[in-house]
Order: sequence, then C-alpha cells, then structure tokens
Amino acid sequence: MSEPKKIRIAVVGCGVGREHVQALTGLAEWFEVVAVCDLDANKARAVASEFGVTGVYTDYAELCRRDDLDVIDLATPPFLHYAQVLEGLAAGKHVICEKPLVGSLKELDELKLAQEKAGRILMPIFQYRFGHGLQKLKLLKEQGLTGPAYLSTVETAWRRRADYYSVPWRGKWQTEIGGTLTGHALHTHDMLTYILGPVKTVFARMNTRVNPVEVEDCASVSLEMADGSLASLSATVGSAEQISRHRFCFGNLTAESNTRPYSNSGDPWVFTGDSPEAQAQIDAALAQFEPLPEGKGGQFYRFAVAFNNGTALPVTLDDARSSLELLTAIYHSAYTGQNVALPITNDHPFYGGWAKYFS
Ligand SMILES: NC(=O)c1ccc[n+]([C@@H]2O[C@H](COP(=O)([O-])OP(=O)(O)OC[C@H]3O[C@@H](n4cnc5c(N)ncnc54)[C@H](O)[C@@H]3O)[C@@H](O)[C@H]2O)c1
Repeated sequence: MSEPKKIRIAVVGCGVGREHVQALTGLAEWFEVVAVCDLDANKARAVASEFGVTGVYTDYAELCRRDDLDVIDLATPPFLHYAQVLEGLAAGKHVICEKPLVGSLKELDELKLAQEKAGRILMPIFQYRFGHGLQKLKLLKEQGLTGPAYLSTVETAWRRRADYYSVPWRGKWQTEIGGTLTGHALHTHDMLTYILGPVKTVFARMNTRVNPVEVEDCASVSLEMADGSLASLSATVGSAEQISRHRFCFGNLTAESNTRPYSNSGDPWVFTGDSPEAQAQIDAALAQFEPLPEGKGGQFYRFAVAFNNGTALPVTLDDARSSLELLTAIYHSAYTGQNVALPITNDHPFYGGWAKYFS
C-alpha cells in the first residue's frame, strides 16, 4: 500500500495552538506543519523553533496567500473565528477551527454555505469526544447495552482567577462571546449530547460571582432530552479543586467518569451493570474495545484518515450546530427566565447571537 500524502497544515494562534502543533508533529506520518502564525512574532518564533517548523508569519492574509497549504488550523480568540474561517475558505484552504466555532447560529449557517460553495472541509474542534472512557460508553450505547437513559449529571467545576482574565479578549461578551458555558463547559456538554442525542427543553440560571468580568462564571441548567431523560448541568470557574464529572444512569447500567478536569473523557470510567447478567454483557463488549488515539491528536488522526479516504469527518458542522443551539437556548432561558424549547429557528430572537443582549 502506498504511503498517504502528507497533509500540509499551518497553525494560527500560538496560545493553545502550541498544543495543536505538538499533536500534529506527533502525527508526522500524516501531517507536515509547514507554518505557524501569530500577531506576536516572538510567540510564533518560539513555537516554530520548539517543533522545527520553518514558516513563521504574523500576517494571516499573507499566510492564506501561500499556495502550498492544504489546511489552516485556527486557534485564535473566538471573536476572530468567523472572518478567519471565511478568509481561509476563500483562499481555497480546508479549515479546522477551535471552539467556540462562532457566536451565533446565523454565523454558523453562513459558514456552512461558504464551505459548501468553496468545496472545502470545515471541521470544528471537540477533542474531548475521543477519550477512551467516553468511547467505551458510546460503544455500549451503540450495541444496545445501556437500556433507556433515565438521568445524567455533568459537573464542570474549574478554577479561573485574575491572571486568566488579564488576557484582554477574555471575560467580555463581544470578544469571548460567553463565559464558562461557552469557554469551558462547551466540551463537557458536548460529551452529554454525543451520547444522548438532542435536547428538547432547557431551563437555565446563571450569574457572575467569581471574577469581576462581564460574562457568566456560574451556571445551573436543567435539560429535558429528546429521548425523554433528564439531565442537570453545573458549571463554574470558582472551584478550588478542579473537576469534570459525568454520571449517566441508564436502565441497564450506570456510567461514571473519572474527574480529571481536562481529560475526564479518558480512562478510567466505571460501568456498573444493573444485574450480574448486564455486567457480564458489558464486560464482554468492553473486552472488544479497540483504542484509537485520544484528545487533539485523536481528532487530528481521525481527520487525516477521513481526508485521505474521503470518509466522514470525526466532528462535523452539525455537531457544532447542536452545541451552539444548546448554548443559544441556555442563554435565552437565563435571559428570559423561561423554559426554552429546541430547535432554535432562524426567526428566534437569539438566532443572531446572544452577546448583544448581555453587553
Ligand atoms: N479545545 C480546547 O480544549 C481549548 C483549550 C483552550 C483554548 N481553546 C480555544 O482556543 C482559542 C484560543 O484560545 P487561547 O487560550 O489559546 O488564547 P490566547 O489568547 O492564549 O492565544 C491566542 C493567540 O492568537 C493570537 N492572535 C490573535 N489575533 C490573531 C490574528 N489576527 N492572527 C494571528 N494570531 C492572532 C494571539 O496573539 C495569541 O497568541 C479560543 O477559541 C479558545 O476557546 C480551546
């Protein structure tokens, strides 16, 4: 079999973008990181020299003009994503973009049209999906071994203080687009819908108690899922001990994640069968589990396979839409004090985004 053609990729934004470069250079069989780009030349040079990347840019437009690039991978602040994705697609590049992809369903629908018109790929990042614990639960669900969902809880209790908010774009509706629900719990909430599917209704309360910022830093949300089960989400940046935790109660089993804040989708998860027979089926199914790479490397690996084979992407614009739709409903519920039903249609007051209502 011939070697796959290496995907020539550039990473833009050298904050968390450094981790992207690290993950991509760890997949050298699939990717060649040909350039990094950051407004701050020192940050770009430092990442380039750490990982042996030859191209260093401070001007995104100049990077887009390179004609030997397959993919642009954006890890810039949220308020830039919409315009930078459009610019990358218009330059004929495939684009990968960090979360939150954009700040409204309207922008997302516009990006989908632009991506279709350009005939290029646009893949959002949701790397928590690929942890082995969550993948095992996905396997059990797909094999019909979970039984019906009853109740699920998701806790995202992280710690962020003044140093974190000293970065100018953070903490503001116009530039961060939202607070802990948008910036942190987006992943853990995506993990819930990845397993259970769509949300039917939302009731949310939120406030700002931990830091002197505009955006929410505490939230409590009650969900009714389309499958009839209930779910409860809590998110804060005011937790001295940082944890992320998922607990799913199904008819045939309970699944509980580990509590590592940034990798609770990984092993170990505890799967407790509701009977010895159920436990035996769970254990037999999990004995067949075939681990693939996790985290960002896991998403980039799956992207490379899909890119080379023309198969389905590991994370799609529909996934980003589900996440954004839930977020829109949560903010609308918190704003109005009302229960909000999904789907959010294009005549909904928050279809164009929520930031202007809170700013
Ligand atoms: N998936 C995850 O787990 C995860 C983790 C952290 C951050 N993020 C997301 O990644 C994005 C970046 O977050 P961060 O924490 O790295 O922010 P950051 O501020 O630390 O880094 C962003 C970098 O982008 C650079 N930049 C700004 N404008 C630019 C432009 N026009 N062209 C080129 N570079 C530009 C900045 O100089 C900065 O170095 C955000 O959307 C954030 O939500 C995702």
